Amino acid sequence: MLNQIKEKVALVQDELIYQAKLRQHHSHLPVLEKRDRIIAESLQNNGIVITTLEDLGLPSTSEMLNAAHSLLPQMGKHNYPVYAQNPPEIYTVTDLPQFYNWGKEQRLLNILENYIGLPVAYHGVQIRKDFINKSQFSTMLWHRDSEDRRIVKIIIYLNDVEEKEGPFQYVPSSFTSGINFYRLYYQLYEKGIDDETLNKIVSKSAWKSCCGPAGTVIIADTNRLLHHGTVRTSERSTLFFAYTANPPKRAELCTQYWDNTFPRLELSSQNFHLKNQ
Ligand SMILES: [Fe+2]
Repeated sequence: MLNQIKEKVALVQDELIYQAKLRQHHSHLPVLEKRDRIIAESLQNNGIVITTLEDLGLPSTSEMLNAAHSLLPQMGKHNYPVYAQNPPEIYTVTDLPQFYNWGKEQRLLNILENYIGLPVAYHGVQIRKDFINKSQFSTMLWHRDSEDRRIVKIIIYLNDVEEKEGPFQYVPSSFTSGINFYRLYYQLYEKGIDDETLNKIVSKSAWKSCCGPAGTVIIADTNRLLHHGTVRTSERSTLFFAYTANPPKRAELCTQYWDNTFPRLELSSQNFHLKNQ
């Protein structure tokens, strides 16, 4: 009982410190040009923005895309049974400047700092291929990420993604607040939620699928939004960039973008090679 009270007091203190930091940093937030202010405001309002590489117009885009398309032919070359659980192939590419530099474009960091409200920690980049699966498991179950109070993931589709490729799907936050928050909370605490269970709490008609052509960019707060990748009948290739406040609430969950959790890739003069496999 005493420990529970201590935990609650610590949580309240944490929250008060966080709110004070937000207030202190507010006057230091970078000023945004109009097109970027629209993105930051949309993130504030909805927790998500869907745009394209072309519309973002960042100067390092073509270098980043060239690097991605050099790597993709080397990924997902194994045969696998479509009836089994097939986990995605994920590589850390944070060490490759072609990827890392795109994610630290100043315009992007300024938008994210305005949304997060604090100095930003840019954790890194992963390239991944998701395979055909028959049933939901791992990140195909509905979940929230928990690295920080505000977490922004930027997802870039490297191939066209329609329903069959398993788009990123989310539930608008207005459907997961109030009583639904508590109905979902206990199930999320243990594990993710499957479609059938979620449909009983939030009707499928409210779920949003982020389909789009190659070059689609999804900027989403994956803590605020209940989300998942849908079960797919066709493969999907993506890049994931990860950002939180600096420091994040749970720094130990952010190391996967630069430590040895996933194999790395290195660049030779001719091409890219896989290593540490
Ligand atoms: Fe997630």
